[in-house]
Amino acid sequence: MIFTVAIDGPAAAGKGTIGRAVAERFGFAHLDTGVLYRAVGARGGDPVLAARSLTPEDLARHDLRTLEAGQAASRVAAIGAVREALTAFQRDFARREGGAVLDGRDIGTVICPKAEVKLFVTAAPEVRAERRWREVGGDLAQVLAEVRERDARDMARAEAPLRPAEDAILLDTSEMSVEAAVAAALALVEARLNRAT
Ligand code: DC
Repeated sequence: MIFTVAIDGPAAAGKGTIGRAVAERFGFAHLDTGVLYRAVGARGGDPVLAARSLTPEDLARHDLRTLEAGQAASRVAAIGAVREALTAFQRDFARREGGAVLDGRDIGTVICPKAEVKLFVTAAPEVRAERRWREVGGDLAQVLAEVRERDARDMARAEAPLRPAEDAILLDTSEMSVEAAVAAALALVEARLNRAT
């Protein structure tokens, strides 16, 4: 069975948690596409070259979750040739046998416009900053500033800007517990899956 769940949204909205839960519940493969951009940014040097030669070791680096890696990822993600170099890998992953969940910024709009389920997961910047701050620590005001800066760059860029696909289902998790957000996403995927089979 080929079945793609596309999960897009801004930083720290809950895409990863929801993506992992959907993958686990339905036995789908999961790809956090942000890791690809983080790995390109972390390599340094020419980002286009890095995107064309990413290795499993690059993706397994332990410093990819830092705020700096997030900012570097957001910067290299604005380069069209970088995105292009990462497209085929993501599309192949999405259409693999057995189902796939991809989370990112442009999965429902550019990578998989025909995905069977498209979710746009969002939350207020203050809520997202607090969630990220609990993960990475440091100064909350600085984390909020970084979240806002990354949102602005990801939404304003010319190449595949962050925006909901026209047919995406919006899930605002600002006032939802993790459990409630996951339950809502599982129910949406389940309903679509029942129609597909
Ligand atoms: O989801 P994340 O925070 O790990 O993503 C890091 C950066 O990578 C994000 O600020 C923008 C970029 N990105 C992107 O442009 N497209 C994707 N599909 C995923 C991430």
